[in-house]
Amino acid sequence: MKILCQIYKSMFFATVLFVLLISCSLETEATGVINEVPVEVVKETEKSKGNLVIYSGRKESLIGPVIDQFKSISGINIEVKYGTSTEIAAQLILEGSKSPADVFYAQDPGSLGSVIDMLQQLSPDLLEKIPAWAKSDKGKWIGISGRARTLVYNTDNVKASDLPKTLNDLCDAKWKGRMGWAPTNSSFQTMITAMRKIWGEDKTKAWVKCMMANDVKVYPKNTPQVEAAGKAEIDIGLVNHYYLYKFILDAGEGDKFKARNLHLESGGPGSLVTVSSIGILSTAKNKDNAHQFIDFMISKLVQNYFVNATREYPLIEDVDIHPLLTPLHEITKANISLSDLADIQGSAKLLQEVGALPK
Ligand SMILES: [Fe+2]
Repeated sequence: MKILCQIYKSMFFATVLFVLLISCSLETEATGVINEVPVEVVKETEKSKGNLVIYSGRKESLIGPVIDQFKSISGINIEVKYGTSTEIAAQLILEGSKSPADVFYAQDPGSLGSVIDMLQQLSPDLLEKIPAWAKSDKGKWIGISGRARTLVYNTDNVKASDLPKTLNDLCDAKWKGRMGWAPTNSSFQTMITAMRKIWGEDKTKAWVKCMMANDVKVYPKNTPQVEAAGKAEIDIGLVNHYYLYKFILDAGEGDKFKARNLHLESGGPGSLVTVSSIGILSTAKNKDNAHQFIDFMISKLVQNYFVNATREYPLIEDVDIHPLLTPLHEITKANISLSDLADIQGSAKLLQEVGALPK
């Protein structure tokens, strides 16, 4: 009996040892699996996902984080060339069919429009996600984020009853010496392009001249103009809607900041809503990756990023804007197709001719 017990005991310990050894070896194998396979998968993904060359007319500080995120999600190797939207458009024209670019992402639809013959048709699954007003009438580019032209005014010095109804009201002598603008700014020039289309060349020239005769103060860009409106250095500025929120939201100035936006209700060029826009070059070598990138740009994730980082308007459904912004559907948009804003050079030339820009 004693011997039997001894045998059973030994068998029991041998079994326990065997089970332990097996589980250890399984664990080692499992650990090996966890350590090795994903690395293999990642290497495989990197190998197979290829490249993407983006020409960006938007700044790296703004678009860099979005591109990094796309890079890590997709495993695509990405190269980005940065510049102003007009510089990039000029470079594309220079490079022609030899351009290495797959995608052109611009601050405005005019820059895309100026190279429209170099762009390919976008696929219906991208086009259908963006409303008709915010995409190319030829299906060659789509908007990524909305940017409204607005007047920014000082709330202490301009009574509600005095607010202008149209841009022409600014030619009134009561605004003399009280206004600012930034004629080198590309959004301002895009508004001039809209004016030329809606009003014609002569009326546009006359408006620019009357603003100059009213001693409009020249600013290098929009932020200092909005700051000046907040400090009552000017009472009215001509800007895009999102600059105001840098002060009242991002810098936390709230009601202490004495300027607000006015969206003109006349539906003229002063209430132009334009879009940052994106298209694929017809000579692109990485078309699938370009498509994937654009799809990412109009995902809820990236649309939310724009809403919070730049306070631009989202262009897809179900993305909430800050309650202080005027909802896009409440803005009377200028009655113009964004596909008609391609002649940027013509607007710069007009501004030079009347002396609003140096020749
Ligand atoms: Fe801007």
